[in-house]
Amino acid sequence: MRTLIRNIGLLAGISTASRKEGAAMGEVACLGDAWLLIEDGLIRDFGGSGGMPPAADMEIDAGGSMLMPSFCDSHTHIVYAGSREREFEDKIRGLGYAEIAARGGGILNSADLLHQTSEDELFRQSMERVREMMLKGTGAIEIKSGYGLNTADEIKMLRVIRRIKESVPAEVRATFLGAHAVARGMAREDYVRLVCREMIPAVAAEGLADFIDVFCEEGFFGVEDTDRILDAGAKYGLVPKLHANQLHVSGGVQAGVRHGALSVDHLERTTEAEMKCLGGSSTMPTMLPGSSFFLREPYGNAKAFMDAGLGVALASDYNPGSSPSGDMRFVMALGCICMRMLPAQAFNAVTLNGAYAMGVNDIAGSIAKGKQANFILTKPGFDTPASLAYLHQTPFVEKVFLKGKEYR
Ligand code: NIG
Ligand code: FE
Repeated sequence: MRTLIRNIGLLAGISTASRKEGAAMGEVACLGDAWLLIEDGLIRDFGGSGGMPPAADMEIDAGGSMLMPSFCDSHTHIVYAGSREREFEDKIRGLGYAEIAARGGGILNSADLLHQTSEDELFRQSMERVREMMLKGTGAIEIKSGYGLNTADEIKMLRVIRRIKESVPAEVRATFLGAHAVARGMAREDYVRLVCREMIPAVAAEGLADFIDVFCEEGFFGVEDTDRILDAGAKYGLVPKLHANQLHVSGGVQAGVRHGALSVDHLERTTEAEMKCLGGSSTMPTMLPGSSFFLREPYGNAKAFMDAGLGVALASDYNPGSSPSGDMRFVMALGCICMRMLPAQAFNAVTLNGAYAMGVNDIAGSIAKGKQANFILTKPGFDTPASLAYLHQTPFVEKVFLKGKEYR
């Protein structure tokens, strides 16, 4: 089955690179007056400037709109139960994220709720979030565990992620984040031992995770804990993606690079040392402006990273405590407005670099022959990448295609 999309005003985000770094982050390759051919769910071919489109079984008129790659959201916690609306009020009244956590709230609240929720109900609630994300243009989603905090509940979360993976046309990757917080009533030492000796082998036995993550942060897990957990994960082939430098300079970036992490995420607080350490590494610096916005924390210094020749990915961090939104277009707008990223830089950060940060850049993140036909057709008026961030509240998605089929 060959489907031709013709009359595309601008085909944006063409690239065969694995990721964009430094000056290349400012470049978005485009073709005007273009067409794109889909075959078996993949991008078969494309062309521009009035060139003759090939014959196909089905034709779709894009009406002169822009066609861009789907967003790749490389950091989410969308499998959770209920909400943390009560803490939202505490935060407005002045309590900080760390204070709420230290009082036994935060992640531990979500763990209590998740424990009381059946696997089926958890799947139902999580699928609603995934569906909303896909309709807003996200085509690849990384999802973390980390609200279980005991072996059975961590496995429950990861089984829900596997069910999501089997149920949706978006590309899904799973991350084991047992070390998200120390479970209630346990000493940190004992909990780290449980993660290493019981949880990791159990997760690996069912093949439930692609990646392993640790919340490397004061009051949560230190660099030594992180080293132990990542070493234990490496024995089962789990590649690290770390939470680092959200509330403090934690040493997590250096730990991540040392362990060959695919990404180090958050980076609200970084120094020259972190940037130097990332230079020449295969680790993607990933910033989460939705969390900075919601917690009134500093934004990551994306500009300094790019000036130092590094790449930057942006992700939603969709979770009940620090970023209850999976809207990647909002993330792109925050990148431009609050982090002073140019629209082209933010565009690459939410597409190709996001794909790299979740290990799917070979199949997603850009317009390239052989990649999955995951893309967005925009509404009239959205004819450049910049327009998405500029008109940041106006609905911009006309149609979403995932694996070659319209998703609605
Ligand atoms: O990335 N900071 C750690 N983990 C999440 C928040 C999780 C939560 O508060 O439920 C984050 O911001
Ligand atoms: Fe997170």
